[in-house]
Amino acid sequence: MKKIGVIGTGYVGLVTGVCLSELGYVVTCVDADKDKINALNEGVSPIYEPGLSELIISNLNRGRLSFVNDIDLLAGSDLVFVAVGTPDKSSGEADLSQVDRAILGLMKVFDAESGPVKVVMKSTVPVGTGDRISRQFISEAPWIGYVSNPEFLREGSAVYDFMNPDRVVVGAHNPGDAKEVADLYERLEAPLIVTDVVNAELIKYASNAFLATKISFINEIANVCEEVGADVNIVSHGMGLDPRINPHFLKAGIGYGGSCFPKDVKALKQIAGSNGYHFELLSAVIEVNEMQKYRVVSKLHQYLGCLEGKKIAVLGLAFKPQTDDIRNSVAIELLEILLNKGANIVATDPLAINNVRKYLPDVTYTDDPYDAAAGAEAVIIATEDPIYADLKWGEILHRMANNLVIDGRNILFAEDLPSGIVLEQIGRRSKDRPAPVDYDSDFEELRRIA
Ligand SMILES: NC(=O)c1ccc[n+]([C@@H]2O[C@H](COP(=O)([O-])OP(=O)(O)OC[C@H]3O[C@@H](n4cnc5c(N)ncnc54)[C@H](O)[C@@H]3O)[C@@H](O)[C@H]2O)c1
Repeated sequence: MKKIGVIGTGYVGLVTGVCLSELGYVVTCVDADKDKINALNEGVSPIYEPGLSELIISNLNRGRLSFVNDIDLLAGSDLVFVAVGTPDKSSGEADLSQVDRAILGLMKVFDAESGPVKVVMKSTVPVGTGDRISRQFISEAPWIGYVSNPEFLREGSAVYDFMNPDRVVVGAHNPGDAKEVADLYERLEAPLIVTDVVNAELIKYASNAFLATKISFINEIANVCEEVGADVNIVSHGMGLDPRINPHFLKAGIGYGGSCFPKDVKALKQIAGSNGYHFELLSAVIEVNEMQKYRVVSKLHQYLGCLEGKKIAVLGLAFKPQTDDIRNSVAIELLEILLNKGANIVATDPLAINNVRKYLPDVTYTDDPYDAAAGAEAVIIATEDPIYADLKWGEILHRMANNLVIDGRNILFAEDLPSGIVLEQIGRRSKDRPAPVDYDSDFEELRRIA
């Protein structure tokens, strides 16, 4: 049975290591963060993912999974996955310092005597990175092979996605190296794409950029809907029935966030630019996304005027449901905007409060959405979490000081709400909106202030 190493125990590395051990491989995961490793060895996952804790504990007990702090302990591995972070720099370019450190560390661990090993890149790295690292291996450590194996899992369903992938993409210069990695996934019976490294790298960026483009497109349609009096939910439903379009990622809202889409879209734009091509469309995708959250701010102003001293409840902090990840969460960006306007914010989330508290101490936090709503002038739904659709909205209204609900994720149905609630959504003109509505000038003003 193959011995596998994984560098990085974040959302991708931990799920990869744990799922490969579940598939029967002997896996050693290494992370530079000692606290994470200590917790993992106690069977405690540092992140929330459905089903992950159970798999960590069962595979630790089977002796197929171990967590270490020292990269030297990966010696003897047949394959080493690299799943470290590739955050964006202020220029939009991907920061490869974690990747480069991991590669240098591996070149020290695997020398001419240790025998052949393959480095498998799971991190999302700019097109050309694999070729650069491969050249480094050929000249300094020719016993190390390089394979690109981008990851497509979604936080919130990462274990399921790893075990049931839409496709497995393997990019390599050497067909033998590609086969060794492809074979690891054989039991999953997923469509397999074996290609070269550049194609594999670009498949990942192109996929994320296309999904982000769909989101920004439907958000612009939503904004048009508000102007012309159409309903974006009906429009997107009608569009999505066309199989050439499909209904996925056609949900209007306050924009995409998370640790991947924002940085990957910017990185692809930057990769294209540094190779001599100006990717015009992505500039618009990014700008539309930046502005979309201001739709909520604009609606608040329209109903409440100045926000100074007004109590506002925000439901949802993570960038999506079923995760505690707040990286680039639009909800957090919204909190920052509202705090700057002097609003008193009470926020709630089922999983992410502890991660937000240290960044935004001026917000009041509660686990209970009903407590959050108490005395609030407005309630905002910022995360697309179905638990908020299932709240007793009569009780929420009863506790509020006013009656404005801004559903930034279009998860509520007006007909299910008690009368008395004024519901504003994205891309659906509210019958209660104060007239005349000078939406654009307010929006332009906000754009200028922002
Ligand atoms: N999060 C996602 O949903 C997702 C999905 C697909 C692809 N990706 C890509 O996968 C990569 C990892 O993303 P993530 O969300 O898991 O990141 P993360 O920040 O959650 O985890 C990275 C981990 O690597 C560790 N680390 C960094 N350098 C190290 C080193 N030299 N040695 C040992 N450990 C080291 C960090 O301590 C951290 O625990 C990124 O390139 C990301 O773009 C992420």
